Amino acid sequence: MKHSSKARGQWTSNLGFIIASAGSAVGLGNLWKFPYVAGKNGGGSFVLVYLCLILLLGFTIILAEMALGRYANKSTVSAFAKIGKKWKFVGYFGVLSAFIILSYYGVLGGWVLGYIAEYATGGNFDISSSAIDTNQTNLFFQQFISSPVWPVFWLFVFTSITVFIVIRGIEGGIEKAGKIFMPALFLLFLVIMIRSLTLPGAEKGLKFFLTPDFSKITPSTVINAMGQVFYSLSLGMGINITYGSYLSKESNLGKNSILIPGIDTIVAIMAGLTILPAVFAFGMEPTQGPGLIFVTLPTVFHSMPFGNFFGFLFFFLVFFAAITSAVALLEVSSSFLIDTFHIKRKNAVLLCGGSVFLLGIPSALCYGIWSNFQILGRNFFDFMDFIPTNILLPFGGLLLCIVVGHVWGIDNAAIEISNHGTLPFRLKKVWGFLIQYLAPLAMILIFINGFLS
Ligand code: PHE
Repeated sequence: MKHSSKARGQWTSNLGFIIASAGSAVGLGNLWKFPYVAGKNGGGSFVLVYLCLILLLGFTIILAEMALGRYANKSTVSAFAKIGKKWKFVGYFGVLSAFIILSYYGVLGGWVLGYIAEYATGGNFDISSSAIDTNQTNLFFQQFISSPVWPVFWLFVFTSITVFIVIRGIEGGIEKAGKIFMPALFLLFLVIMIRSLTLPGAEKGLKFFLTPDFSKITPSTVINAMGQVFYSLSLGMGINITYGSYLSKESNLGKNSILIPGIDTIVAIMAGLTILPAVFAFGMEPTQGPGLIFVTLPTVFHSMPFGNFFGFLFFFLVFFAAITSAVALLEVSSSFLIDTFHIKRKNAVLLCGGSVFLLGIPSALCYGIWSNFQILGRNFFDFMDFIPTNILLPFGGLLLCIVVGHVWGIDNAAIEISNHGTLPFRLKKVWGFLIQYLAPLAMILIFINGFLS
């Protein structure tokens, strides 16, 4: 076997890494969150701010994470420990965040599987009349997510598929899954995007999504966009540290740190270009929120020719995107067990997968039989989303910037990034400033905003 000479796995090539990292980044954050957050925050203005922040923050932090991971050649906790024993705890933040996110991510992934099954079996959403509206799809959605059985069943299926892939390791599992799912996702996306853009009335959605209205840019637009950049690029939880640690010493980190956010952003924009024109073409509101793809879109699909087929394709592609992100989330905690306690990969993954499934159950049931169970005024699902997204990730990100920018230091990081001076690193000064000052400030703002919300 190829990796038998190495104690740890390694990507077969830099392309394998890019595909897997893009797979981790491209997920429900792009397809489910981005269009509705953009819809809620004024469309084009949000997109513009988002693009600027991807350049300023996304590139900066992903580069720092990859460099740290490859330098340490260890997953997140051990990587921080390599910089200094007392920083080890930063890694734990990441492991904890990834674990918590995966628990509710699996619930969402499960809903997506449930919708695929619904489309595969006719997609009538339990409705006999031919004209359906959002009230009906909403009713279906509410009934589906409040069932005491189906959300848990689909969570189990989704988590099992994730476990199956991660058990197979870096090259045979994660990289291979990315190589199959990512191109498939792009293809399906193109088909659906063209369908959506050619609907009569699509141009209204296009205009909404692409025309920035500067008067609509408020501090809250900026902070929401910042949170979205973080979430979408899977920053602040050690995924890129862990994935970076399986990189060869020859690969070009600078190039990777532009390509991955680039691919992620293209997919987010494609999602906006697919979902919003369809929503506008059928005269619906883009501000629907989290139900946008589960409630608004099925109505849209129902009203178009071959809608069932497109609905099926759409949810399939959402599934592809979600599963490669779930794989990354599970790899963080599994690789932590493997590197720290020298547990066999199979056992580590089964242990993490099993516990994350159990932790997901309250999230799966909290729209139904457990809806009375609230923490800080939120149901369990929202709470599990809130804590990592608003608190743990920005805090982990802040500490990452401090550790890389001020403890490890720009010069040491630059040695790793430039492959010991064999590659040029022209942006060293700019990157140094961003990671030392601007990114930490941004993180503090997201953090404060999270506390206040
Ligand atoms: N980046 C993923 C997405 O956009 C979500 C995610 C967040 C995945 C954090 C891993 C870690 O859906």
